[in-house]
Amino acid sequence: MQLNPDYFFNRNLKLGILGGGQLGKMLLLKASQWNLYTRVLTQDREFPLQLACTELLSGDLMDFDTVYDFGKACDVLTIEIEHVNTEALEVLEQEGVIVHPRSSALKIVNDKGLQKQFFVEKGLPTAPFKLYKSKDEIIQDFENGLLHLPFVQKSRKGGYDGRGVFVVNTPEDLKNLIESPSVVEKKIQIVREISVIAARNSQGQVEVYDPVGMEFNPEANLLDLLVFPEVLSARQLEQTRSFAIELISGLDICGLLAVEMFVDENEQVWINEIAPRPHNSGHQTIESCITSQYEQHLRGILGLPLGPVEVKVPSVMVNLLGWPGYSGKVNYENLGLVMKQPGVHVHIYGKNETRPFRKMGHVTVTHPNPEEARKIAIWVKNTLKVTSL
Ligand SMILES: Nc1ncnc2c1ncn2[C@@H]1O[C@H](COP(=O)(O)OP(=O)(O)OP(=O)(O)O)[C@@H](O)[C@H]1O
Ligand SMILES: [Mg+2]
Repeated sequence: MQLNPDYFFNRNLKLGILGGGQLGKMLLLKASQWNLYTRVLTQDREFPLQLACTELLSGDLMDFDTVYDFGKACDVLTIEIEHVNTEALEVLEQEGVIVHPRSSALKIVNDKGLQKQFFVEKGLPTAPFKLYKSKDEIIQDFENGLLHLPFVQKSRKGGYDGRGVFVVNTPEDLKNLIESPSVVEKKIQIVREISVIAARNSQGQVEVYDPVGMEFNPEANLLDLLVFPEVLSARQLEQTRSFAIELISGLDICGLLAVEMFVDENEQVWINEIAPRPHNSGHQTIESCITSQYEQHLRGILGLPLGPVEVKVPSVMVNLLGWPGYSGKVNYENLGLVMKQPGVHVHIYGKNETRPFRKMGHVTVTHPNPEEARKIAIWVKNTLKVTSL
């Protein structure tokens, strides 16, 4: 099918989104600005997306028939989470549905082992690694002196938000290895974690956002602050940009590709992992960039011209995580107070229930002076509490 904007802005085109989390919600808000007809398939009945989409269906994203039947009634299909049935997507592609990212790319992304092999094939720097079928094989290699501490074990499939990732520092840690086919890779002495988001459309146009710095909360293993744009050397900027372009083109992706990278103590850049969809590390593009990642993803998958990615104003983003010690019906404290502060942009995802460290929203603080943005963001983080009633 040829995509013609004059046709689809009239609600003739049905855009399907697999997944109904906050990334999907922000994508839908942009789609609704353009009056697009949107259908969402979500596993999460609780999540109140109704207002943002045209049709909301609930079902198992890993089930072939569910994904196939959903996709068959769509003209264009995309994802906001990568754990979906890729076999169904492959059949839908063969039957003429436009699927972005393509099933072939998703199959690589959904397996950390295949991701690593793809980086190596492309000659891109990534931590040296070996693939293992089981925990016992890892222990055996260690005992035979073929594997050295410290290392990082990652489940090949199914992990996210740090689940399925285990840093092995001491021989005692070996007891707690994850029982799963795994990637085992060298532990990098990380000085900074960054992410670069690239966008591409079917005409081959590519745009790359400035890098963002990701600072993590060690207790929750969840993102604490995003600093945008992250200051890198000219060489690193050029490198990270070219890695992102190489990957998005190499995987033939239309829409977005987020590339997570590490910078080590020798200022060397390593590619960690990739995600072909709107990404946590791009929330701040809503307020900070001329074109947000959500708009850019829609442009990319619909064959529209990509928008400019220039930074309008620097920002620091904080996640609103459920406070430890609170579970149940969510309550937000001091919203009015933080909103008095200019440049504070609050996003509440609308999840009814909070639990410790659950992602309930985020706040992007824009300020021409990045240091000021950071100060205000930290203040917001300590002031705006997500508790329960
Ligand atoms: N090789 C490594 N050396 C040192 N630290 C690492 C290494 N690989 C991963 N980590 C740490 O573990 C974190 C989680 O790893 P990774 O991003 O691969 O997992 P994930 O569960 O897919 O993450 P998320 O869903 O949060 O992006 C990284 O952000 C980094 O802090
Ligand atoms: Mg990660």
